[in-house]
Amino acid sequence: VTGNAPIGVFDSGVGGLSVARQFLRILPNEELLYFADTAHVPYGGRPLDEVRGFALPICDFLVANGAKMVVMACNISSAVALDAARLQHPDIPIIGVIAPGVQAALRQGARRIGVLATQGTVSSGAYTATAHRLDPTVNVVENACPRFVPLVEDGLSESADAIDAARTYLEPLSRASCDTIILGCTHYPFLINALTREAGDLFPADHQPRFVDPAGETVREAGVILADRAIAAPPSATPHHRYCTSGERAKFARQGPIFLGGPADDVIHVDLDSQERSYSLARLGRGVG
Ligand code: DGL
Repeated sequence: VTGNAPIGVFDSGVGGLSVARQFLRILPNEELLYFADTAHVPYGGRPLDEVRGFALPICDFLVANGAKMVVMACNISSAVALDAARLQHPDIPIIGVIAPGVQAALRQGARRIGVLATQGTVSSGAYTATAHRLDPTVNVVENACPRFVPLVEDGLSESADAIDAARTYLEPLSRASCDTIILGCTHYPFLINALTREAGDLFPADHQPRFVDPAGETVREAGVILADRAIAAPPSATPHHRYCTSGERAKFARQGPIFLGGPADDVIHVDLDSQERSYSLARLGRGVG
């Protein structure tokens, strides 16, 4: 593995772009190989075994296509597939977003953490377990938000529906007087306007919660691992990012730049269900976008 190899990043859809955009900002020399499993989005309401069954072949695909590291930019995958993926690829560093999210919250002094996440992540109990492992005295309240992911995937993050959903999901966290709210699904940072607006109304003015997006902390952790293993991209690198989608290519090509806040170099359709799983991107060549 050399520094020029890409970092594999994946999610069920566009949510992981909230992590990808932090890579572009914090580690701009690193090349990304992103996989959006939009054929199966949303993951959040599915049985946890089924989600693991999606996440592990995606890791295989990213590693088979040269990834030097894999970032599960998906909370539910991080909750259910991280250990199994590390066992399958012992030589490749694989990280998730849950531990970085909790660490970021604790570092900001959180005492009463609210977690907004998908149903599957909440059922897994991963946030509460991780928080209590790091600080047994912290309070954690988790709330499942099934309406959020479809709204973000459909580009409706600023709609009246999104604002109404934000209010509904924040209410229990306001009743529990949370001081910190972790965005426990990578789609949710794209709802930050609706969330801060409704929190402004629901929480007392002098006790507004801090919202934590785990993405920044995740990318910093990735940077530390790359440096430790001496596999960071050289400063001279000119990365060419590739975005694979198992769903409709045109839709992702349209959405990607909006969520990334910049161009998505190549967008490629990849069907992991019908292709052999070591399916090589090299055969598609570059410049497909
Ligand atoms: N964005 C993913 C997460 O962070 C999954 C969302 C979904 O597909 O339900 O959990």
